[in-house]
Amino acid sequence: MVRPYAIKGKKRKTREEKYDREEDEEVEVEEKESANRGSIEKPKGEAPDEEEEEDESGAHELVGIPIAPSDQNTKKAGVIFVLEKASLEVAKVGKSFQLLNSDDHANFLRKNKKNPAYCRPDIAHQALLAILDSPINKAGRLQAVYVKTEKGVLFEVKPHVRIPRTYKRFSGIMLQLLQQHKITAVGKRESLLRLIKNPVTQYFPVNSRKIGFSYSSEKLVKMSKYVDAVDDDVNLVFVVGAMAHGKIGTEYVDDFIAISGYPLSAAMCIARITEALAEKWNVL
Ligand SMILES: C[S@@+](CC[C@H](N)C(=O)[O-])C[C@H]1O[C@@H](n2cnc3c(N)ncnc32)[C@H](O)[C@@H]1O
Repeated sequence: MVRPYAIKGKKRKTREEKYDREEDEEVEVEEKESANRGSIEKPKGEAPDEEEEEDESGAHELVGIPIAPSDQNTKKAGVIFVLEKASLEVAKVGKSFQLLNSDDHANFLRKNKKNPAYCRPDIAHQALLAILDSPINKAGRLQAVYVKTEKGVLFEVKPHVRIPRTYKRFSGIMLQLLQQHKITAVGKRESLLRLIKNPVTQYFPVNSRKIGFSYSSEKLVKMSKYVDAVDDDVNLVFVVGAMAHGKIGTEYVDDFIAISGYPLSAAMCIARITEALAEKWNVL
């Protein structure tokens, strides 16, 4: 059973509380100052719509699922992330449907001749948090996030969604999404997460450069130098694996790079990418 989200609480006043929201999961609205503080490119504020409830950052606070504040009005080249081969699979375990994971379903997985080591939905969870928490998202430069599961199911995550921070709640949202095909904010038409048709390439902007990531690529680059060399009007599509083992496919990528001499977690890889972009775009 999925727990309801975005129970509106009073806004946090202290600096530590704003940064560490895991301690109080029920408070989902961030202070405007927190959302805008780091960006040198000043976010453009919009006049609040009186008919809709708005937090101080201009993000809508919805009953169904919380939305993170960000400057979505920026009309500059942006960035798209694709998480490939995400281990997000639903199965009936006992009497209920569950999102399979290696900790809770090891016996079930072995009985069904699956290797528990491959069943790691936490990788996609951490990767999504790394993307959505990044300053470049808060500065409005994230255009879209697409996740493709190991089974080939493709879904879109809107950049302004606040993905649950705890794994248990994340797994509830993923279960709901994979069963009902979309998650819509209550009282709104907009789907915040929704299953979409393959191939993912049809959603990329025309002027985009698709960059795949793997530790095993022979082209080892320094990420900051790499993004600096890309023209400012090019939309960047970063394709990162969200699986424990194996390699992403290279069918649609223009370039295939390694960004460290060490194997990184997907979240660490994303952190390097977003930091390099923040430096390039002067987002602090
Ligand atoms: C948990 S890793 C997957 C492990 C897999 N054995 C591999 O090396 O690709 C998740 C993803 O992070 C990215 N990644 C990890 N280390 C990297 C590196 N040194 N350079 C570039 N990308 C890396 C890849 O996209 C990889 O699919």
